[in-house]
Amino acid sequence: MAMVWTRRHILSLADFTPNEYDGVLQTAASFREVLGRRTKKVPALQGQVVANLFFEPSTRTRNSFELAAKRLSADTLNFTPGSSSLSKGETILDTAKTYLAMGTDMMVIRHEQAGVPMAIAQEMDRLGAKVSVLNAGDGQHEHPSQGLLDLFTICSLLDAESPRLELLAGKKIAIVGDILHSRVARSNIWSLTATGAEVHLAGPPTLLPLLFGECGNGREGKLFLHWKVEPALQDADFVMALRLQKERMGQHLLPSLREYHQLFGITRDRLKLCKPHVKVLHPGPVNRGVEISSDLMDDAQFSLISQQVTSGVAVRMALLYLMGGGKLH
Ligand code: NCD
Repeated sequence: MAMVWTRRHILSLADFTPNEYDGVLQTAASFREVLGRRTKKVPALQGQVVANLFFEPSTRTRNSFELAAKRLSADTLNFTPGSSSLSKGETILDTAKTYLAMGTDMMVIRHEQAGVPMAIAQEMDRLGAKVSVLNAGDGQHEHPSQGLLDLFTICSLLDAESPRLELLAGKKIAIVGDILHSRVARSNIWSLTATGAEVHLAGPPTLLPLLFGECGNGREGKLFLHWKVEPALQDADFVMALRLQKERMGQHLLPSLREYHQLFGITRDRLKLCKPHVKVLHPGPVNRGVEISSDLMDDAQFSLISQQVTSGVAVRMALLYLMGGGKLH
């Protein structure tokens, strides 16, 4: 499949096309091959500048974007809010313009408020700057690169040589936990329902509001809500557990973590409801023994958690590469 990448920014998966998903999956597969070589670096983005602007803490996303940029031979800049001019009163847009003035080609942005990456992208477009903005997680809105690396992890398991969207047809995927606060869930709902898969959301009613059932963009009939975990797990091919985001919980939305684990925790016993080949994902960071029982988390027969982290580098290389190359057309 020949594909021309035309998207300048990646802010959301809501309007991603099947062609774009497949383009990312195929490109990521070729970078996974590069990462398996003795020399793990390619010159694709030589001379380009990738700035990681993380206004919120991160381990996996930030480091894998940085490693991905370095593996593509780009120069990287890292911004840390505590030690930046933000603490002297500089606005976020002015911070972004500062990076632009230094010749930044791609900005990878994480912020605790939804919409910040889009606001920066709009400002860059208004200025006529040929800069690409990648949303690395904005508030409760979206986390597109996580959605894409989860998709890559799942599709690679189904066909390692040729991961592609159509492999998801007929699969059942359960997403369990704090859906309300999860930007990962919101991005995954778009990607996993983009083809014939069914997505079953499960969580306590306080963390899974009814409005999540309203899926648009031609995805009607592919998304199901459950306030008990068992019907979501029944015959599932994949189970994705999500972290309880205590930092975003304003009120007491849960009686206790112990009770949550008893009612919604993913355990070996509960996995017996799923298909025999079921695999478990979690975007991390994990509250051990809360979302997933600790022993299950480390069990390579079921857990894809470390594969997700590994996939993250290849997928982020693919995104930077496609956007960096797209700019040359
Ligand atoms: C997620 C995030 O920050 O949105 N983590 C990640 O990027 N791997 C999920 C979370 O914080 O629970």
